[in-house]
Amino acid sequence: MKLCRLIILSVAMLFLFGLTAPAYAKITVTVAHTHVETHPQHKAFLVFKNYIENEIGDRFEIQIYPNGLSGSNEQVFSLVKLNSIQFMAISASLLENTSKQYAIFSVPYLFRSEEAYENFIRDPEVIAELQAEEKKRNFRPLSAFTAGTRNFYASFPIRTVDDLKDRNFRVQLGRNNGLMMEAFGANDYVMSFRDVYPALKRGVVDGAENNELALVDQKHGEICKYYSYDGHQMIPDMLIGSEDFLASLSPEDYEVFKAAAMEAQRVEIREWKTRVKKAIKQAEEMGVSFIKVDAEAFRNKVLHLHDSLLTDNPSIRKLYVMTLKYQ
Ligand code: GCU
Repeated sequence: MKLCRLIILSVAMLFLFGLTAPAYAKITVTVAHTHVETHPQHKAFLVFKNYIENEIGDRFEIQIYPNGLSGSNEQVFSLVKLNSIQFMAISASLLENTSKQYAIFSVPYLFRSEEAYENFIRDPEVIAELQAEEKKRNFRPLSAFTAGTRNFYASFPIRTVDDLKDRNFRVQLGRNNGLMMEAFGANDYVMSFRDVYPALKRGVVDGAENNELALVDQKHGEICKYYSYDGHQMIPDMLIGSEDFLASLSPEDYEVFKAAAMEAQRVEIREWKTRVKKAIKQAEEMGVSFIKVDAEAFRNKVLHLHDSLLTDNPSIRKLYVMTLKYQ
């Protein structure tokens, strides 16, 4: 009898706890990026996190790992494809080998102004065009962050295009970057973002090319005291998610993640110019000089590539035509 009562009690308690305890644990969503916490992308990811947690925080928790804590962009990209990390921001240039469409962004002098470029990456049709391919490739782009304009910088001043001749510059992965450097008469060294500082320090390369933030955030300005505004490329960092993760979401939850990505983009682009202005001041305090060059002369040196890049890679043609709307 006693045993019987005990069993009844245990079953009752199980039932009670079963009802009060949450039916499922929260899903932890990991976001990784290589930038410092003052970078507009980090702020954007905080917006991404807050947006999702405000809407569906009872079921999802977003954890952000900045500063390359989870590995290099290349390593994290592999983990996103495996769904070990769910989201990251990655340069479109690094996606070129996986999906040829992204090569559109490394076509030199594609846009005449940052405004034109920003409007292009905000265009929902552009993301839709990129998404069409990605579903087959284990990742899906949700939006694009600006990474400003890429310019050359080095330990020596670059005043004319001839100053690039036979010099060694670090560039990002991607065929177009190599062709562009060849057309400029310089040598390209492909390496990961986080290896650029040691490579500059040891003199493996004479310079690099990036936005102004790299001088300060990545300390490239400690070595490179000359930054020249030639404006050769505007390459966004894509906010991508793991395809497995995104496909596992209900349509309602997916809409929340999508809206969060759009909101993150809006904030990132808004923050960009303010942060760049500040970075220029900080770089000047580090002793960096900003040089105005005849950008048209640089442009003329590589403009012929547009035709050959479009012929060699037909997957960029549709997007190329779409850029014309924004010139
Ligand atoms: C930019 C971009 C980074 C990228 C880097 C690079 O700074 O924001 O995501 O990795 O360029 O040149 O590698």
